[in-house]
Amino acid sequence: MLVSPSLLSADFGNLGRELEMINASDADMLHIDVMDGVFVPNISFGFPVMKFVQKLCRKPLDVHLMIVEPQKFVGEVRDCGAEIMNVHYEACTHLNRTVQQIKAAGMKAGVTLNPATPVCLLRDIIAELDLVLLMSVNPGFGGQKFITGTLRKVADLRQLIAETGSKALIEIDGGVNLDTGTQLAQAGADILVAGNYVFNSADPVATIRGLKQL
Ligand code: DX5
Ligand code: ZN
Repeated sequence: MLVSPSLLSADFGNLGRELEMINASDADMLHIDVMDGVFVPNISFGFPVMKFVQKLCRKPLDVHLMIVEPQKFVGEVRDCGAEIMNVHYEACTHLNRTVQQIKAAGMKAGVTLNPATPVCLLRDIIAELDLVLLMSVNPGFGGQKFITGTLRKVADLRQLIAETGSKALIEIDGGVNLDTGTQLAQAGADILVAGNYVFNSADPVATIRGLKQL
């Protein structure tokens, strides 16, 4: 299993130390949650913090934009060192164009679905995608309870990927722990995001290792 710890639950007063922990861990990438207070009912952090993360983090950056009009910021996200730029399906009127812009900027393109958005809506874009991020909580906050209907969505997405010959990876975000992670692994997930479960555990490096072994 690939693991992408979510920085949202880190101790921002000790960000340097938290990033050293990530560098020393088995994490495959670092998940960066950007919120604008409009698309989601919360605000997290923006480009100045991401620049600092870029400088200190040696893992690829998996950026999840929970913002309206994400197409306006493709250049800024690239300049912050993002390897993957995830935009929400629900935030993009011209999703095909936005995906092409992300790829033209040299990043991998990910599209994120809210819990109530069905996987079938991706049929005409899935071949273009490097990754699909399924929200297993309503976006905006860490530490929420896993929505179990996500397991069926993973299976639906696996089937759509097989039918279309897409190379997209399946990433899951929200309420991931060893128990839900085990179920997600069985359902066919490729990447697990985990915030609260990693950063609020007694031994985050061991917690990441546990998820990796799923
Ligand atoms: C929620 C964010 C998540 C969040 C996950 O809106 O997109 O990435 O950090 O947090 P946990 O793992 O605590 O549910
Ligand atoms: Zn996220």
